[in-house]
Amino acid sequence: MGEPRHHCKLWLLLLALAPWLHASTGAATTFTIANYCAYTIWPGTLAGSGTPQLSTTGFELGPGQTVRLAAPPAWSGRMWARTGCVFDAAGAGVCQTGDCGGRMECRGAGATPPATLFEVTLGKGGGEDFYDVSLVDGYNLPVVAIPRALRGPGACNATGCLADLNRSCPTELQVVYGAGAIACRSACEAFGQDRYCCSGAYGTPAACRPTSYSSVFKMACPRAYSYAYDDSTSTFTCSADDYTVAFCLPTSGIKESDAVFLGAQIIGGRGTGAAEANDIAPPAYGNGGAGAYPPPTSDSYSGGGPGGAYLPPVYNYGPGGDRIPPAMRISSASTTTYIRPWLPLLLLLLCFT
Ligand SMILES: *[C@@H]1O[C@H](CO)[C@@H](O)[C@H](O)[C@H]1NC(C)=O
Ligand SMILES: *[C@@H]1O[C@H](CO)[C@@H](O)[C@H](O)[C@H]1NC(C)=O
Repeated sequence: MGEPRHHCKLWLLLLALAPWLHASTGAATTFTIANYCAYTIWPGTLAGSGTPQLSTTGFELGPGQTVRLAAPPAWSGRMWARTGCVFDAAGAGVCQTGDCGGRMECRGAGATPPATLFEVTLGKGGGEDFYDVSLVDGYNLPVVAIPRALRGPGACNATGCLADLNRSCPTELQVVYGAGAIACRSACEAFGQDRYCCSGAYGTPAACRPTSYSSVFKMACPRAYSYAYDDSTSTFTCSADDYTVAFCLPTSGIKESDAVFLGAQIIGGRGTGAAEANDIAPPAYGNGGAGAYPPPTSDSYSGGGPGGAYLPPVYNYGPGGDRIPPAMRISSASTTTYIRPWLPLLLLLLCFT
């Protein structure tokens, strides 16, 4: 009869060590995905080959909502957001931009271009992370990536594209829906020519140079990849515990010294980036470029005092930011909180009665 008790002690020991085990072997990095857009978006995640998919590969994110996802060391992959999606109860449907195989969960499918991409390769054993925001597959939403909780050297620049490229997009690259452009294609996707795609005879960094089309992207968003070999000005390194990937971040959410590099023009002390434009109805005429709108009369983002960083609430699900599908948020969160404290007691009861 000593056997079961012996097992019990083992389990109790494991239980006691669980938090430590989680901390040392578990996720080293989190991604805080924040929706500052005035509308719902559907972020997607895709792991690079050889690394596991994250706990979610696609989910709904309402305005002002934030989800934190944990990633293991050396994880690499990309994130983007879909717009204008309609899904049925089974998760099948379609999105206007960024679609991934017509499903809520992308399950290994990438974004249909055009889509603004955040790309990252995490370091191993505390090594450097590499990250970028890419317009190589076109543009559908303003995205900024900001490293947080820095734990090593590295410039750790914020990168991304806050400009409204829907509006400054050359006509021949526009994806038009209803009254205006909803996304901007890359020249590679639009024309399929080697010189735009850096393929064939143009398949080397020396042969593939910026074009008038990639220059439109580069001028609008100097830190984002504008074509495939744009590495020197577009790849950043850091060692951070968290990368905030913010969609439609208002200008007040970034450092002023970063503004021009991220495509957020400050005119008259006030940002005129894409996110601000989302607050008000776009004009019927297009292509005015950033700054064509009059500033909105009320600024819903400036609650945070100087710098005015508006932070949406963070819904952090479980240690390390376990993924919870939005539809299950409340029940899962409370399940986690209420069940766990009872587990040790339950085990004790089972072991010693
Ligand atoms: C990155 O940030 C550093 C300061 O932290 C700055 O000197 C450098 O110019 C930035 N790099 C780019 C490409 O903007
Ligand atoms: C570009 O179009 C997408 C798709 O409709 C839209 O969600 C987004 O708000 C537009 N971009 C900006 C900066 O307004």
